[in-house]
Amino acid sequence: MKTQVAIVGAGPAGLLLSHLLRLQGIDSVVVETRSREYCENRIRAGVLEQGTVDTLVESGLGARMQREGLVHHGIELLFERRRHRIDMTHLTGGRSITVYSQHEVVRDLIAAAIDHEQPVLFDVANVLLHDIRSDQPYVELVHRGERIRIDCDYIAGCDGFHGVSRASIPADVLRTYERVYPYAWLGILADATPSADELVYAHHERGFALFSMRSPSVTRLYLQCRPDENLAEWSDGRIWAELHTRFENDEGWTPNEGSITQKSVTPMRSFVAEPMQYGRLFLAGDAAHIVPPTGAKGMNLAVADVRTLSRALAARYRDGRVDLLEGYSTTCLERVWRAEHFSYFMTNMLHPSPDETSFVNRLKMSELKYVTTSNAAAQSLAENYVGLPFAEAG
Ligand code: FAD
Ligand code: DHB
Repeated sequence: MKTQVAIVGAGPAGLLLSHLLRLQGIDSVVVETRSREYCENRIRAGVLEQGTVDTLVESGLGARMQREGLVHHGIELLFERRRHRIDMTHLTGGRSITVYSQHEVVRDLIAAAIDHEQPVLFDVANVLLHDIRSDQPYVELVHRGERIRIDCDYIAGCDGFHGVSRASIPADVLRTYERVYPYAWLGILADATPSADELVYAHHERGFALFSMRSPSVTRLYLQCRPDENLAEWSDGRIWAELHTRFENDEGWTPNEGSITQKSVTPMRSFVAEPMQYGRLFLAGDAAHIVPPTGAKGMNLAVADVRTLSRALAARYRDGRVDLLEGYSTTCLERVWRAEHFSYFMTNMLHPSPDETSFVNRLKMSELKYVTTSNAAAQSLAENYVGLPFAEAG
């Protein structure tokens, strides 16, 4: 098999890249170890930045998102028994976020690939990248029991944190930066009408809690927990009781209860691999970087990376220009490090930590008061939360 760009991984990064390349007349093949059903039902992120929404709309993928997505103009920070609103739209000159599940984005992308006969091979095994430093790299894999070789000009490594792509770059070329947090998030989905119109990030002495939603009838909630938390010890009753405690406030607001349809524990990590390219291999999304979920940046960064990569590949095929491809890693890392800092800042501010001194925990409270009383501090939080505009080159 031969193509121009072989794409490893059918998450948001890989599927969106193949879509953006097709719009530029560039051929690609996506290979994915999981089944289509698994990819379409994997519950993950839910907050889309303004730039992510714009990218999906501009590339013809926005119809269902614009119908079903929930546009939010602010968030609330709850501490010391009071909710404090950050008016993001007012503070950012009109920008907003949209709540629309990552797996719905993936479903829309797979539907578009099928409509346009864009090849996506699911359920593949033993994926190997070869000759990535040469002009003729190729990907080998097993599909339906048959060994397949995909010859290509470029490889996009969009295979997430545990994929094969980053591991194909020699260790002495890569520099990695990492922080592992001493807590995790226990997340649930509940069939319950959201009891507020906006997300509520709560700082409570027993730990962080987040109220979010997926639709007018589904509430998404998270609780700070231990990284090794045993889900079996969390009955539905215990989860609701803990949520009500952490959201306690003087206005009497609390999430509505409903039957819990999904429970999981998500670890918290910050990670960046530099550079995000090596020879003909380009890393995008979680394959190159991880953020703790507090800033809701993970999927948005993946979208920003492939937007940059698709433009660089288009310049290469259309005009023979290689400068944008050569600058790919440098361009992406500017945004990556900003999002890393914002996610780290939000995570530290909102999570009381048993490992930290009472001094540090008092600083967190001071920071919460500052971002909810100073216009300058609120504006900084808001512009990062809705996402900075793309610095488009070329
Ligand atoms: P992925 O979505 O991970 O996609 C990579 C794909 O590559 C997967 O389909 C995988 O099966 C496939 N793959 C792996 N190895 C191979 C291989 N060798 N060959 C071929 N294919 C392979 N972000 C938020 O903003 N908010 C959240 O609440 C949130 N929750 C999360 C919960 C979990 C459990 C995880 C893991 C992440 C969460 N994130 C969240 C982060 C966000 O979902 C990711 O940043 C986003 O999925 C990145 O997209 P991606 O396409 O780069 O990677
Ligand atoms: C969601 C996840 C986040 O990490 C966040 O900051 C806000 C919302 C969510 O899954 O809805």
